[in-house]
Amino acid sequence: MAYLEAKPPASARQRGALVLLHAFPVNARMWEPQLAMAERGWRVVAPQFRGFDSAGQVRVGPAPATTMDDYAGDVIDLLDALHVHDAVVCGLSMGGYVAFAMLRLAARYVQGLVLADTRPQADTPEAAEGRRKMIQQVAEGGAAAIADEMIARLLGDTTRRTRPDVVERVRGLILSNGADAIAGALHAMMTRPDSTDLLASIHIPTLIVAGSEDAVTPPAVAEEMQRKIAGSELAIVESAGHLSNLERSDAFNASLARFLDHRV
Ligand code: MLT
Repeated sequence: MAYLEAKPPASARQRGALVLLHAFPVNARMWEPQLAMAERGWRVVAPQFRGFDSAGQVRVGPAPATTMDDYAGDVIDLLDALHVHDAVVCGLSMGGYVAFAMLRLAARYVQGLVLADTRPQADTPEAAEGRRKMIQQVAEGGAAAIADEMIARLLGDTTRRTRPDVVERVRGLILSNGADAIAGALHAMMTRPDSTDLLASIHIPTLIVAGSEDAVTPPAVAEEMQRKIAGSELAIVESAGHLSNLERSDAFNASLARFLDHRV
């Protein structure tokens, strides 16, 4: 599996591995602002889910029937290959769904958890229907067919009004993904199981993050998750939407650093 990695300088106190799981329909490069956590002693690894960041790939056969367990299994295989026995796992949105799958499949790899702009519930029938339509749009027009619609969902009002650089960065991240990767992720999301019952079994240090303007997984969803995960902390990133790590990387990194320093 492809991945981005930032290693801590030899002079830093070595803190272990921090695994960053990306959202849909962007890719691991959305985590570039968080690679700086390496300076604080973390070995930062950002896996690229199947087929992402490979826009040129041409489909052979039907759309892939990828599952969240496939993504989680790929991440676990990667950790084994890198000789990482446990890690703080940080998933944003779809990345959070993969983190839940990792907890179900191999919880011993997860030493700490960050759930950012995500939700434990499975898709509603209406949401699954929306995914089916999007698979069709992507089959016909590739990533470009969904870019505008997704940018409007992913970014908060403040970012869309005042940060054209972030809007263009996210557009670039979306367009760098092939149709197969996007269709596979849509299939994985629409077939994912509900993880609500899993929350009460989480007994590791956990941080929940939400952008104050997140319309996809609003702060109320994050507050409910926090109530269900014993001892978890909540950080609201002001003036950010769904991609809070990119929209307000300063505030996101400050919350992440505080959590890593004091809770893990
Ligand atoms: C994401 O950001 O990963 C997606 O918007 C999540 C979703 O559509 O459920």
